[in-house]
Parts: sequence; structure tokens; C-alpha cells
Amino acid sequence: MFDNILIDDFTPPKTCTVERVTAVKHWTDTLFSFRITRPQAFRFRAGEFIMIGLMIGGKPVLRAYSICSPTWDEELEFYSIKAPGGQLTTELQHIEVGDGVLLGKKPTGTLVHDALVPGEHLYLFSTGTGLAPFASIIREPETYEKFKEVILTHTCRTGEELEYGKQLVEDIRKDPLVGELVGDRLIHFTSTTRDDTQSQRGRITDLINNGELFEVIGRPDIDPATDRVMICGSEAMLRDLKDMMVERGFKEGSNAAPAQFVIEKAFAGDGV
Ligand code: FAD
Ligand code: A2P
Repeated sequence: MFDNILIDDFTPPKTCTVERVTAVKHWTDTLFSFRITRPQAFRFRAGEFIMIGLMIGGKPVLRAYSICSPTWDEELEFYSIKAPGGQLTTELQHIEVGDGVLLGKKPTGTLVHDALVPGEHLYLFSTGTGLAPFASIIREPETYEKFKEVILTHTCRTGEELEYGKQLVEDIRKDPLVGELVGDRLIHFTSTTRDDTQSQRGRITDLINNGELFEVIGRPDIDPATDRVMICGSEAMLRDLKDMMVERGFKEGSNAAPAQFVIEKAFAGDGV
């Protein structure tokens, strides 16, 4: 326990419940994941985000967080940055099992099956913590009911930043609930841009444009006739990939008007 999370001493905002931390894992100096209890009434769609926070100095500090858990999980899992000087994560990175965390009541988001029209292959393009909503999507049985194949790409600056995603995919393949359904229908492609720890080096935009992604996974270039796309990363990454999708003839979807691709910011601002 640490000083600033004296949640039990304050009245939490009405928009939140107080949940308990059940597990914390630090992956690098700047990345960690944690699990919290899930209220029985808390429902969400795979890929949605929710407000997460702490009482800091007696006031609630809340930020948007993608839910990494599939909808069938009894707890809720999150994957977090430790933003230098960041108001929330400077404290959140110190949470321990048993600590209280604020959980919003209204999940929302566009990286959901409802925002896409049916297709054969689902591409999930992520950079950095943009992997988080896809941690939910790739563990959701609905994903494999709707698509023949799921291609998850994750690009980070360095190899160690890929570890959470790699462990996740390894665990899914062994999972008694979804492992069999997933089988070899989930393809995990990783690349780094600032070290040579992976077989592939480069931004996902470049690896799509030069054909390296498709060569490595042994699939044809993406095609709006058969493929659906979800994208999550920095604003710059979203802008570039969105332009590429539109150029290839994909139409952007939303909850109100499903189409062929959807995007969502992994965070607001320029990044750390
Ligand atoms: P802030 O004041 O919010 O940010 C400080 C600095 O860190 C800013 O420059 C900001 O650009 C940068 N930064 C913030 N978050 C990130 C990040 N994730 N990756 C790289 N740079 C970042 N964050 C997560 O860690 N995991 C998630 O699943 C997640 N989901 C999000 C979903 C949505 C829809 C949005 C809008 C944001 C999401 N974020 C996520 C970002 C999150 O809301 C906070 O910005 C983050 O927790 C840092 O909060 P802070 O108060 O410590 O710092
Ligand atoms: P790079 O190292 O070349 O900037 P960030 O932590 O800044 O969000 O970056 C996470 C990953 O996303 C990095 O590998 C980074 O590559 C990559 N990236 C940053 N901007 C873009 C972009 N506009 N298009 C594609 N990938 C990007």
C-alpha cells in the first residue's frame, strides 16, 4: 500500500466503483499490467475502453484505459504505460495486490465487432500500448466465429516492449476455453524500430507498403473485399495507417455505421 491511494478514506465519484488489485506484473521500466476485481454488473464489449483511476490528494484522477480482458474473464486486466511525470501513472505504477482502484461504469469504444461489416480476415494493427484492446479481441470467441483468420501486428521501439503481447499469445494457445478455437487461426507478427531483436525491423506502415508483412505471413496484400481492419496506436500512426486504408479502398466504420476499418487512439498527445 502507498500513501496516495487511501481510497477507503474518501468518497469515490458516483461514476465509479472501487475495485481491488488482484495481480501486478512489471514488464519493463515503462510498462506494466494489472488485474482488478470485476463488479458483477460490469458488462462490456471486447475492444472497449473504460475510465481507470486513483484518489490522489483526495481527488479522483481518471484516465481512459482499454480493457485487455475478454468478456468472459472474471476479473479485468489492463496494460499500462508509466508516463514520465504523468499525473495518474506516476502513482498507478506503485499499486500492489489489495490496493483500491477506481473503475468507471460506462465502457465505450469503436474497436468492436459491431463497428465492422462481416469479412474473412481480421487485421489488428497496433503499436506500443495500442496492443491493449486487441488483447481482448484475440481472446474473445466471437472473433473466431466471425473471422476465418486473425492477424495481430505489434510494433514497438524495442524487443522488450513486445513481451506482454508475446506472453499473451502463448497463453491463449494453451487456454482451455479458447485455445482450441484459436488453433493456428491467430497469426502474431512483431517488429521493432529501434533495435534488431526481431526478425523484422521497421514501422508497420513501411512493412505493409514494401510487402514485407505479407511475405512473412504468407498472405496476399489487404483487400477491402475480404479483409477487415482495426487500428490502435499514436495519433501519427493512426493518421498514416488511415490514409493507407482509404487509398486501398477501405471505408471507416463506427458503432452507428459499421464498415471495413476502425481506429482508436492508444493515448492522447505526442507520446513519451
Ligand atoms: P498523461 O498526462 O495522460 O500523459 C503524459 C504523457 O504521456 C503525454 O505526453 C502522453 O502523450 C504520454 N502517454 C500517455 N499514455 C501513453 C501511452 N499509453 N503510450 C505512450 N505514451 C503515452 N494508456 C495505457 O497505458 N493503456 C491503455 O490501455 C490506454 N488506453 C487508452 C484508451 C484511450 C481511448 C485513450 C484516449 C487513452 C488511453 N491510454 C492508455 C492513455 C491513458 O488514458 C493515459 O494517458 C495514461 O494512463 C497516462 O496517464 P498519466 O496521467 O500518467 O499521463
Ligand atoms: P519509430 O521508432 O520509428 O518512431 P511510440 O512509442 O512513439 O508510440 O511508438 C511506438 C511504435 O510506433 C514505434 O515503433 C514507432 O516507430 C512507431 N510509430 C511511430 N509513429 C508512427 C507512424 N506514424 N506510423 C507507423 N508507426 C509509427
